[in-house]
Amino acid sequence: MAQIMDGRGLSEGIREKVKEDIAKLQQYGIAVGLGLLQIGENPASRQYFFATKKACSKVGISTYQFKLPETASVNEILNVVHSINRDERVNGLLVLFPLPGRINARRIVNEIAPEKDIDGLGSLSVGRLAADESTFQIFKEGHYEMLYECRFMPTVSSFLPCTPFGVIRLLEHYGTGIKGKHAVVVGKSLAVGKPLSLMLLAKEATVTVCHRETHDMGNFTRQADIICTATGVRGLIRGDMVREGAVVVDIGINVLDDGSIVGDVDFESVEKRASFITPVPGGVGPVTIAMLLENTVRSAQRNEFFKSPLMPG
Ligand SMILES: NC(=O)c1ccc[n+]([C@@H]2O[C@H](COP(=O)([O-])OP(=O)(O)OC[C@H]3O[C@@H](n4cnc5c(N)ncnc54)[C@H](OP(=O)(O)O)[C@@H]3O)[C@@H](O)[C@H]2O)c1
Repeated sequence: MAQIMDGRGLSEGIREKVKEDIAKLQQYGIAVGLGLLQIGENPASRQYFFATKKACSKVGISTYQFKLPETASVNEILNVVHSINRDERVNGLLVLFPLPGRINARRIVNEIAPEKDIDGLGSLSVGRLAADESTFQIFKEGHYEMLYECRFMPTVSSFLPCTPFGVIRLLEHYGTGIKGKHAVVVGKSLAVGKPLSLMLLAKEATVTVCHRETHDMGNFTRQADIICTATGVRGLIRGDMVREGAVVVDIGINVLDDGSIVGDVDFESVEKRASFITPVPGGVGPVTIAMLLENTVRSAQRNEFFKSPLMPG
């Protein structure tokens, strides 16, 4: 029977550390703020807004809501993004998805200043991840450790997308090992599958990426030491597709008619074969939020480091 990878427990630890970091910044009169940009009245983005606001207030991050009507033009949205880029209260900006269908989301996220792009979605952040210019954030060994011990983090690099960053943190927390393992990522979206495959590659896994056009997916997943699935297709990964002892990370979220939530993995059959498995809910989800909080406080720390490198004590 697989060991459960408890995202709530890990998330608690990360939040405590974020709280401490915020308290340190407050000693210097620095407040930490997250901007939430919502366009229209989509129920999913409203729900995410309230959940994020609550998580922020628990650790001492102020939230600023920027709300535009469903009918807002791209130009109006970009003006708001530009003003948030200059807003000193806001250290990170999160655009709440989905945007109205006629809006090109890439056009919006690409205007977020990279130092405030705390979900790493803009092209510059994606490029820096692909070029290994921001992946130091997923390394703790060796000389990278110094960066984690610093009160202020001395780097201009971009942030890593919260969900895949959270997956790496979960794997590391449970000591599953990544280097030299065969990782199969199911899903290739820009928000989850693609950056996750780049992060696993940076950590020297051998990475296979599957998607909708992959033929006989079980042929790939059965060879995997680590399976990470992010599709939103209920029951896509079944026990017969998993090698005995594999690590299974379920990122998918599917809301059932009765309001309950399940992932992509058929938990019952897979947990009998896996060595580690994430539950849904309570696995990747809470860690994603924790990474959002951590990225926001890192942004505030970097901001201060560059503006006042010779701070006292
Ligand atoms: N837990 C969290 O914190 C968290 C955060 C973000 C997202 N999620 C969840 O993760 C899931 C994926 O999110 P996303 O933003 O990446 O979604 P997305 O943009 O819709 O991407 C879904 C990916 O899954 C692939 N796919 C769809 N059906 C498939 C199938 N039958 N076989 C193989 N691959 C298939 C798609 O392949 P193609 O590219 O070929 O179409 C695509 O790459 C969703 O359920 C979402 O709610 C969870």
